[in-house]
Amino acid sequence: MSAHAHGTQHFDETKRANIKFSAEALTTIENLMKRYPEGKSKSALLPVLHVAQAESEGWLSAEVMDYVAELMGIQSIEVFEVASFYSMYNLRPIGKCQLEVCRTSSCWARGAEDVVDYISKKLNIKEGETTTDGMFTLKTVECLGSCGSAPMLQCGAEYHENLTEAKIDALIDRYRSEGTRKNYTDLNYTNSK
Ligand code: FES
Repeated sequence: MSAHAHGTQHFDETKRANIKFSAEALTTIENLMKRYPEGKSKSALLPVLHVAQAESEGWLSAEVMDYVAELMGIQSIEVFEVASFYSMYNLRPIGKCQLEVCRTSSCWARGAEDVVDYISKKLNIKEGETTTDGMFTLKTVECLGSCGSAPMLQCGAEYHENLTEAKIDALIDRYRSEGTRKNYTDLNYTNSK
């Protein structure tokens, strides 16, 4: 059994030589797990998966999920069950900027379909696809809790609200010029890989 973060224990990185999280990420994961009592560290899985995703180019491969399971001392299937349930985790590669357009009622009533169509035509990709340069992925998601600012989309940790074609143009131009990966995380943890 591998060592995992709890109390004075530390991760045994040698178990997964092919997958390496940064020292910062491992410390963050360790601290997240310490928030919960012994034996209850699985409760940290959601934020831990954000860190794992940020360390893995925005998506969770089977190997990364196995690695997370090992770090946390839980079963791989437990990681997969959670990762596959929530839309904020990606189980296949995505572009550096994943544009997650809300399609639920308020956004739908205020033009979400037009937003999706506009982005789709502008980037020449269908929903679920990634541009050939690996820069953008288009995705639709359910309500993101910003209904009063519909239509809206999320990219990484940023919300973009009251969308218009001009705002979408400016957003895509900005992301292209920045050229960096936008990772979703609700932690004070950033990774600009
Ligand atoms: S319906 Fe789009 S944010 Fe709630």
